[in-house]
Amino acid sequence: MVASNISFEFRGNAALVAGAGGGMGLAIANALIKAGGDVMLVDIKPKPEGIESGPGRHHYVQGDLTDDALIKRAVGETVTRFGGLDLLANTVGVLWLGRDTSAVDIDLGVWDQVMAINLKSMVLTARHAVPEMKKRGKGAMVHVSSIQALRGDTKVQEAYGASKGAIRSLSKSLAMQFAAESIRSNCILPGFIHTPMQARLDDPAVKAKFAEFVPLRRVGTAEEVAALALYLLSDAAGFVTGAEFVIDGGRTALP
Ligand SMILES: NC(=O)c1ccc[n+]([C@@H]2O[C@H](COP(=O)([O-])OP(=O)(O)OC[C@H]3O[C@@H](n4cnc5c(N)ncnc54)[C@H](O)[C@@H]3O)[C@@H](O)[C@H]2O)c1
Repeated sequence: MVASNISFEFRGNAALVAGAGGGMGLAIANALIKAGGDVMLVDIKPKPEGIESGPGRHHYVQGDLTDDALIKRAVGETVTRFGGLDLLANTVGVLWLGRDTSAVDIDLGVWDQVMAINLKSMVLTARHAVPEMKKRGKGAMVHVSSIQALRGDTKVQEAYGASKGAIRSLSKSLAMQFAAESIRSNCILPGFIHTPMQARLDDPAVKAKFAEFVPLRRVGTAEEVAALALYLLSDAAGFVTGAEFVIDGGRTALP
């Protein structure tokens, strides 16, 4: 079965997708729109081509997701346009290879920026989304971490790895705090996925080299991550919270 054969029903649900300007965020937004959900897409990039036209509605807000005022406005606009907010997908992230180095020599300004984008943005979206979910009497969130959160690395990206580790903890903590109000929170840990963040995979030779490290012998797609996110956001995952899901072609299962 391929990801495009899985169908979910999101009619009557409003979602905010943070980091929807490309890659996994755009794939999740499109999958939700195709399943009938109304989606607020937010990203620092200009509105991308290729946003699905329906059956769900959508609106795009361009802005910096480390800015609390921008998120407050985007959540407010979601409620005004779509009547509430049920779902949150946190996919924002930056991987600044070369600048994001070891703890012992990283520029601390870079450290702070990566933490603000990768981690604080998810805190801010949760702060504004959870009160709206409480009004609905239910809600679901997914937060995109990384398999980097499970291990150390000789090719150090210290701020990236630490931020991704913190997302696992944040997601579980949100799950525990709001479970009694039927608000779920889960975490996705991808391996190599061909997205704009991994533009180096545009080179077929590099892509083939990366695939050698993956038991399934290929890198993943944004649509495959979106299929997992849709499951976690859907009622089919109604008993799933505080959990984390690796999607990496078997890479972390290697001996
Ligand atoms: N691609 C991979 O191999 C991989 C692996 C593991 C985890 N991840 C994680 O998956 C998530 C999605 O990444 P992707 O691979 O789709 O890459 P991507 O670069 O396409 O998506 C990240 C999005 O975040 C947006 N963004 C960055 N800074 C922002 C800011 N300050 N305000 C608003 N938007 C901002 C970018 O414009 C971009 O659209 C990220 O959190 C990433 O760390 C990716």
